Amino acid sequence: MPSCRTQPTGSSLYSASSTTAPSHNERGGVSPQREGDGRLSHPQRGAGDPESYDDVLKDVERVIMPGVTHWHSPNFFAYFPTATSYPSMLADMLCGAIGCIGFSWAASPACTELETVMLDWLGKMLKLPDCFIAGTDGHGGGVIQSTASEATLMALLAARCKAIKRVQSTNPELSESEICSKLVAYTSEQAHSSVERAGLIGGVMMKKVPTDDKYSLRGPLLKKMIEEDKAAGLVPFYFCATLGTTPCCSFDNLMELGPICNKENIWMHVDAAYAGSSFICPEFRPLLDGVEVC
Ligand SMILES: Cc1ncc(COP(=O)(O)O)c(C=O)c1O
Repeated sequence: MPSCRTQPTGSSLYSASSTTAPSHNERGGVSPQREGDGRLSHPQRGAGDPESYDDVLKDVERVIMPGVTHWHSPNFFAYFPTATSYPSMLADMLCGAIGCIGFSWAASPACTELETVMLDWLGKMLKLPDCFIAGTDGHGGGVIQSTASEATLMALLAARCKAIKRVQSTNPELSESEICSKLVAYTSEQAHSSVERAGLIGGVMMKKVPTDDKYSLRGPLLKKMIEEDKAAGLVPFYFCATLGTTPCCSFDNLMELGPICNKENIWMHVDAAYAGSSFICPEFRPLLDGVEVC
């Protein structure tokens, strides 16, 4: 889109988008575009001459909107409901205006402090055990990742690093790549594809454990696979449980799985991308039972 000749204001953009553009109700759900259509409707070169703000807004309607899938539309039933909210839009505007870069504490102390405090709020809303809470002494605590896939990968990479150090402390002659070739991770056959992908990116074996008749991963099968792999000289190091699987919202049995991972020194990650926010409601919190034994 060409650069803009006039200075738009936030309120003009807001009123343009809320009054002139069709609402989510009037737009279809899924974009009618086919692959490549969007690229053809964009100018092939960046603008030399800036355009007026009105023209830029017309481009948004002409070029961008036809290629948007409207997750907010009442006509959209794919995937699952995951919408934004008015407060979060305002918060996004504020963050954009502050221009906050938060890659380290020093880069923007308020950013890191707020992240830590807010994740404690969330942890307490979910009634997570104290070890997950940063509190004032800094133990536990969470960080925000952009996506669930990224969180799973981060956990796998951290677990891999920890496992390599542990193996090297007793076998200093082994190189990192020799250890990596023996590391084995586990997840349910119902887990999201991002878990398998984390294994591929992390360069480790990822084994899929079969589930029971309710598509739930149970302790005995995981235990059996771990024992067989250890007997074959492999090093089990990571397990990803799912609470609310993508295909059918089934729940792995944390009560059975947590103690096995603790005993075997396996890093257990819980992917609750889909169902996780429901645990804030007291009536759904029992679905998270077992997190205290992980
Ligand atoms: C259980 C589960 N895990 C992971 C993901 C991936 O989420 P994201 O797109 O945030 O990486 C999804 C998305 O559907 C999911 O349902």
